[in-house]
Amino acid sequence: MTPIKFSLEGKGALITGGASGFGRGFGLAYAKRGADLILVDINEEQLEKTTADIKKETGKTVIPIKCDVAKSEEVQAMAKQAFSDLDNIFILNNNAGIGVPYGPDLLRLKEKDWDQLFSINLRGQWLVSKYIAKRMKKQTFEPIAGKIIHTASIAGMIVDNKIPAYSLCKMGVIGMVKLLAQSLAPKIMVNAISPGYHVTGIYNDSEEAMVMTMKDGHVKTPLNRLGTVEDVVNVSLFLASPLSNFITGTNIPVDGGIVDAGVPAYYIKTDI
Ligand SMILES: NC(=O)c1ccc[n+]([C@@H]2O[C@H](COP(=O)([O-])OP(=O)(O)OC[C@H]3O[C@@H](n4cnc5c(N)ncnc54)[C@H](O)[C@@H]3O)[C@@H](O)[C@H]2O)c1
Repeated sequence: MTPIKFSLEGKGALITGGASGFGRGFGLAYAKRGADLILVDINEEQLEKTTADIKKETGKTVIPIKCDVAKSEEVQAMAKQAFSDLDNIFILNNNAGIGVPYGPDLLRLKEKDWDQLFSINLRGQWLVSKYIAKRMKKQTFEPIAGKIIHTASIAGMIVDNKIPAYSLCKMGVIGMVKLLAQSLAPKIMVNAISPGYHVTGIYNDSEEAMVMTMKDGHVKTPLNRLGTVEDVVNVSLFLASPLSNFITGTNIPVDGGIVDAGVPAYYIKTDI
């Protein structure tokens, strides 16, 4: 399916968490439309594999950079390398994230788990935008010099006490895009996408594991199917395309209506 026709020829795209799941999907979709890629990930083996696969399928330049987004010195070195390897970074998908642990509420959550989640899912996304935007805003593309797309989550829109620190980080990401959008207007757009439930590495690529999580949370999806990677990639393509050039500071849920449409309360089975 090619839902949006536009060219990214001559444009660079940098994707964190680019080895797997949504990140891999963003990279492939952009390269198919002509972009050269920098894929950033902490998982070197998967990163090499995804790089080779996308290069083979599209014939585009795809450069892997191993980097832990939680470490400032690694992010700074990665940003420097990215802008020397490619002429420009027009699109940044600030997407790397982890989802564990599942279960302990905010009072039982271990401090080390809080710290790890915040350092990757919120501080990591902040560091990447901070150091990429510094160079991105000097680009001369008109009318928009660059586009930053953060991956948030519907867990940042409705707090979820099975993943409390994850929820708080994603609320933070949704707030952060507003602040970044203010600082970077009018040259750079900054928006977030909030996926719902989609089979990716965060569920160990297991539909069964994801469906169990949905059942545990009594999740009902008004559009009555599971989310796919393509559902999220399509919205990222829209944000990467000129069709979205008057949108900044917002968060777009891609969840089949879970958050904004919801379901009547009587649909929700409860033991109480
Ligand atoms: N899958 C879903 O249903 C869902 C729902 C809402 C939000 N999200 C968000 O989507 C984003 C992408 O995750 P995904 O679902 O594609 O899962 P994924 O596990 O397939 O991809 C995440 C990637 O991030 C990388 N990563 C993890 N920690 C890193 C670090 N410190 N530095 C650099 N890279 C790191 C992983 O190695 C992996 O390749 C995450 O921010 C996640 O929170 C996913």
